[in-house]
Amino acid sequence: MCTILAIESSCDETSAALIQNSKILANIVATQQVHHQWGGVVPELASRAHQQHIVPVVHKALQEANITKKELQAVAFTRGPGLLGALLVGASFAKSLALALNIPLIDVNHMQAHILAHFIDDPKPPFPFLCLTVSGGHTQLVLVQDYLKMEIIGETIDDAVGEAFDKTAKIMGLPYPGGPLLDKWAKQGDPKAFPFPISEVPGLNFSFSGIKTAVLYFLQDRLKQDPEFIQNNLADISASIQHTLIEMLLRKLRKAAKETNISHIAIAGGVSANSGLREALQQEAAKRKWQVYIPALAYCTDNAAMIAMAAHYKYKAGEFCPQDVSPMPRMKF
Ligand code: KG4
Ligand code: ZN
Repeated sequence: MCTILAIESSCDETSAALIQNSKILANIVATQQVHHQWGGVVPELASRAHQQHIVPVVHKALQEANITKKELQAVAFTRGPGLLGALLVGASFAKSLALALNIPLIDVNHMQAHILAHFIDDPKPPFPFLCLTVSGGHTQLVLVQDYLKMEIIGETIDDAVGEAFDKTAKIMGLPYPGGPLLDKWAKQGDPKAFPFPISEVPGLNFSFSGIKTAVLYFLQDRLKQDPEFIQNNLADISASIQHTLIEMLLRKLRKAAKETNISHIAIAGGVSANSGLREALQQEAAKRKWQVYIPALAYCTDNAAMIAMAAHYKYKAGEFCPQDVSPMPRMKF
């Protein structure tokens, strides 16, 4: 029996999870509300909120799983990528607990963990598969060969797609984080109402910085004629932006599937919660005979269950880290 406590603190969610063998026993997530008034995550406020949340969140996870600290075999934490101050809180907590209990420490890559969230529930993708990892800080196409063997074959050269959702939503006056709200409005709108340009980037890379400017200029222009343009067209503007972003993602996904000849396709990360992307992927699957893997909503956005899943495979592989390990804000695979 192997029981691991995992901590996630890379951005604005403080989370703790318990895994026993490969089964998640608890997954507690405390979302920080303090950033809403500032229109984005404020790093210093994030670390302070992690400090406040971490002890109660860990206690709640242990309680829900009905596990005592003495029963733990290892402590895992997100080493990166993420905000340095935020990562430091989780890393320091995990190190102290592992030291006090005299058990091993496991460092986890947050982006790898988003992908390994696919192994929490069934159906689990078979190797090799392609994963489109889309979050607030990253947009990556990953060739997944094995649990701990992954290769980035394409990524954004500027903004992440989650950033494009959040920033265009902000231009429209929607509060932070705008992604889920844009998704909500898009459901009632016409995706072809306002065509925005699709960026052309060579190979399997992406670019999402252009759409911000395109949306900004488009709205400035329309607002001159109709000061109520945004309020009157919120659903159509949202649907058009979302449609453009999804098409940019799908173009590269189709290209990657063709080039690698892989038809098992997964999505992961916060933006994989987007209902338009989930639906478009299902349609694509039917058309191209892909098998698609879409995580449960709770495992799309940041959570410690995915960190626990990654830690489970690292524990099995004997991959532990020393006590003097430091967080890596720009950690690669
Ligand atoms: O993976 P995640 O929770 O945190 C990072 O590691 O960045 O992703 C957060 C991102 C934010 O940009 C948020 O707006 C976006 O995921 N997001 C969505 C939706 N839910 C979360 N974007 C579009 N539609 C959604 N339903
Ligand atoms: Zn994430």
